[in-house]
Amino acid sequence: MKIGILGAGSISATLVQRLSSAGHDVKVACSCGPETIDPSLLTSGAQAGDAADVVVDIDVLISSIPLNRMPAIAPLIRSTPPETVVIDTANYYPRRDGNFAEIDKGLVESVWVAEQFNRPIAKAWNALTSQSFADKAAPAGTPGRIAIPIAADR
Ligand SMILES: NC(=O)c1ccc[n+]([C@@H]2O[C@H](COP(=O)([O-])OP(=O)(O)OC[C@H]3O[C@@H](n4cnc5c(N)ncnc54)[C@H](OP(=O)(O)O)[C@@H]3O)[C@@H](O)[C@H]2O)c1
Repeated sequence: MKIGILGAGSISATLVQRLSSAGHDVKVACSCGPETIDPSLLTSGAQAGDAADVVVDIDVLISSIPLNRMPAIAPLIRSTPPETVVIDTANYYPRRDGNFAEIDKGLVESVWVAEQFNRPIAKAWNALTSQSFADKAAPAGTPGRIAIPIAADR
């Protein structure tokens, strides 16, 4: 699959490496420019680009950035074709993100994200720490292998 990833931080670093190692065609962007992305993320063929390039000609877009940075990327995500699957890894941390009144009043945070992106989203990889994600992967059948939930309408 052709996969675009917005964010090159703790969670997305593992996503970039795993998905490109598995043979997917991965592009990744951060906010500070492709030259700032750790080259060790790109050793299995992933390409660093600008956010505007990463959202073009892809099957799947993964947003892995803090909630308060989403308004900056929302227009890019809204510009993707409706069939592009959008996956979000975010969790809402008011201490980090500031307060969002609608979420504080009870709006489900992924509904807030879907409204920002004007698109249904799948929620994945948000229910474990980046350290567990990086260190605890194990092949199917391994005793003690952990599972993580995903949620989506398709
Ligand atoms: N860390 C965890 O254990 C964990 C676990 C589960 C879920 N999550 C969630 O996953 C999301 C990412 O977390 P993280 O810990 O990976 O964050 P992080 O390490 O702080 O990385 C955030 C990334 O987002 C990029 N970014 C910010 N604004 C951007 C923009 N406008 N365009 C493109 N890239 C942009 C940053 O790029 P620059 O550095 O260049 O600004 C950075 O690469 C958060 O919502 C978090 O709540 C985190």
